[in-house]
Amino acid sequence: MNSQDKPLQIAVMVGGHGRGSNLQAILDACASGEIAGQVSVVVGTRSDAPAIERARAAGTNVQIVSPKQFDSYEGYGQALLTLFTSHEVGLICLAGYMRILPQCVVDTYRHRILNVHPALLPLFGGKGMYGEHVHRAVLASGMKVSGCTVHVVDEEYDTGPIVVQTCVPVLEDDTWETLAARVLPEEHRGYVRAIRLFAQSRITVDGRHVRIRETSESR
Ligand code: GRF
Repeated sequence: MNSQDKPLQIAVMVGGHGRGSNLQAILDACASGEIAGQVSVVVGTRSDAPAIERARAAGTNVQIVSPKQFDSYEGYGQALLTLFTSHEVGLICLAGYMRILPQCVVDTYRHRILNVHPALLPLFGGKGMYGEHVHRAVLASGMKVSGCTVHVVDEEYDTGPIVVQTCVPVLEDDTWETLAARVLPEEHRGYVRAIRLFAQSRITVDGRHVRIRETSESR
């Protein structure tokens, strides 16, 4: 619970083509009580995105807000802030959202925006490093492990402080598809864990470092 004893209100932002599997993991974890919070709004840029269809199927409040509707990117940001305020959003989770957020959103929600990335940052991140491109780059590098990273979002792509990371092996006969399939369940588990920690107010950002307060039930 957050400080007002009201469940944490979470906004999930999805991309135009996202599958919505991380969104689903978050919805499931809120429904089961693993996360002490609820998804109050799912925000997408296109109404035909698979993730948006998944959100609608789950009966979640969906809003389509596209930068194309606004004269400026900051105007888009102000519209997002109005939406988040009306839903009393305390945490924004990016799940397949591919853009840098408008500065006003990053400023207003500093250290309250999370993203999941399908590799071990700070390697294999940055503009253009998404989906297949990430896993192909990992395979080309010869790395013996990959994994997922949940990080705090700042003004750049994939550079914010790291909250949770988990590893998977890279196998000699991996294709980008088999590696992606091994990483994806780690994303779901890692993202739920990070959001659960946030909802329990156990996360503190200290420069590049994220401190996690241990409890007797920590895992
Ligand atoms: C995930 O691989 C995530 O790491 C990246 O975008 C993808 C979204 O997948 N940021 P999904 O829509 O959650 O299935």
